[in-house]
Amino acid sequence: MEGKVFAVTGAGSGIGRATAVRLAKLGALGIALSDVDEAALKDTKAQCIQYPTRVTLKKVDVANIEAVDSWINEVLKDHGRLDGAANVAGIAGGEGQVTEDIVQRDWERMISVNLTGVMNCMRAQLQKISKPGGSIVNVSSTSGLRGLAKNAAYASSKFGVIGLTESAAAEYGKQGIRINALLPGPIDTKIFRDGEAKGLFSSEIISAGTLMGRMGQAEEVAKVLVFLLSDDASFVTGARWTVDGGYSACGFYRAG
Ligand SMILES: NC(=O)c1ccc[n+]([C@@H]2O[C@H](COP(=O)([O-])OP(=O)(O)OC[C@H]3O[C@@H](n4cnc5c(N)ncnc54)[C@H](O)[C@@H]3O)[C@@H](O)[C@H]2O)c1
Repeated sequence: MEGKVFAVTGAGSGIGRATAVRLAKLGALGIALSDVDEAALKDTKAQCIQYPTRVTLKKVDVANIEAVDSWINEVLKDHGRLDGAANVAGIAGGEGQVTEDIVQRDWERMISVNLTGVMNCMRAQLQKISKPGGSIVNVSSTSGLRGLAKNAAYASSKFGVIGLTESAAAEYGKQGIRINALLPGPIDTKIFRDGEAKGLFSSEIISAGTLMGRMGQAEEVAKVLVFLLSDDASFVTGARWTVDGGYSACGFYRAG
């Protein structure tokens, strides 16, 4: 990580925050943090600057293409380079549950944030990232491999992230840029607990569906994400990398 600069979306909480802190701990030269929640970003920054790294932060809604472009332009101005990007920001939930009840604005917001948001970030990042040597990790989900009842919009957005990742990986591999999808299973963060509170899934049932019989922690995902960003993963591109305690290896939970 030394001498390198990384951009992280969704850095105010959960996996994004854990990724930022791990990058700082491993000696990244600079980290550019973004999220819609500015107060949360400040907390993440406070954790990162315990280590010798330069941290900038910006309130950015990844669904807003102008805001993303302007953020990535600022990253280049502030840090002078961009070597890696973790596109982590995401949402789940919505009002309706089964597909016929999905509210159109919830569908559109889900696709805008989870899929178009990753596209907005990748487009801006690919124009600026170090070539060769750049690495991008897009956070999908095990729900990007198989459907998840009562979560059709979420699963659709996460399937899309995999298609986007694999297509871009094919385009940029020969230029020495690696692009991978990270697929977390059940991880104990706000997005999961909020979904559970709405009855979209149950931590107890999903945990029992993993081979390890438990939820994962954000830090366990961040360790793999940062590995994929690093040169240690120099021959890994276009991968669908699960971090799910074996959840996808043994059949998936089916709500309702
Ligand atoms: N927790 C899980 O079980 C799980 C499983 C599979 C995939 N994921 C994915 O992991 C990613 C991170 O989620 P998490 O578990 O850390 O949840 P989290 O709720 O702790 O963090 C999500 C972060 O994204 C930010 N965010 C939301 N909308 C945004 C937007 N429009 N623009 C910028 N930032 C925005 C939130 O403010 C929050 O800080 C998400 O893409 C999620 O879909 C999580």
